[in-house]
Amino acid sequence: MSASPRGVEAELDSGSAPIAGLDTLSTVIDSIFKTSDNWIDRRAAIHSALNRTVVTPSELSTFALFDPRLPYTRNLVATDNTHYTLLILCWNVDKESPIHDHPCDGCFIKALQGKIRESRYVKDASPESDQLVLFQETIVHSGAVTYMDDFVGYHKVGCAGTEPAITLHLYTPPYHSCKVWASPERFSSWSEGKVTFYSKHGQPMN
Ligand code: SIN
Repeated sequence: MSASPRGVEAELDSGSAPIAGLDTLSTVIDSIFKTSDNWIDRRAAIHSALNRTVVTPSELSTFALFDPRLPYTRNLVATDNTHYTLLILCWNVDKESPIHDHPCDGCFIKALQGKIRESRYVKDASPESDQLVLFQETIVHSGAVTYMDDFVGYHKVGCAGTEPAITLHLYTPPYHSCKVWASPERFSSWSEGKVTFYSKHGQPMN
């Protein structure tokens, strides 16, 4: 832990005090990274901060952009280009991400609207097997926060309701590509998925 632990400790001590809006959340996240280099503390503080974050309808109309042609639409909200990337993802009904890894310390997801299904996989422990095995499937309802990293396994996420869903994602640190599996049947056969954005800071890219 660095000299002043106030940011992290303030977050962990904040109980259920709401964090009003994404600008305030970014400030809180900045302070967490400035005040602690201990991953366990940071992870707990980020989880707490996301739990308490309330995204306003006006922020949703700025950042939650849907492209109906895509399974899901990735919108960049904020990044410091070093420690974290904050995104809003918009999920079309019946659509999902491919199974993927997280070449970072961790991935946090807060469901903002609708509900999502998170499916978690691990490599089959048998040396003869080349499969990914589904070990957990969870429906994440609006307001809930989940956490994932490669020590836990790999996952895919999809819209689980009859209405489109919106999620807030925080990746730490930012990454530019990850492993993507078209099928859980062949762990050794993955491709590189490049990180792309439909919009940045509310501005569509095209
Ligand atoms: C997810 O399924 O967790 C979202 C993947 C992404 O960031 O594109």
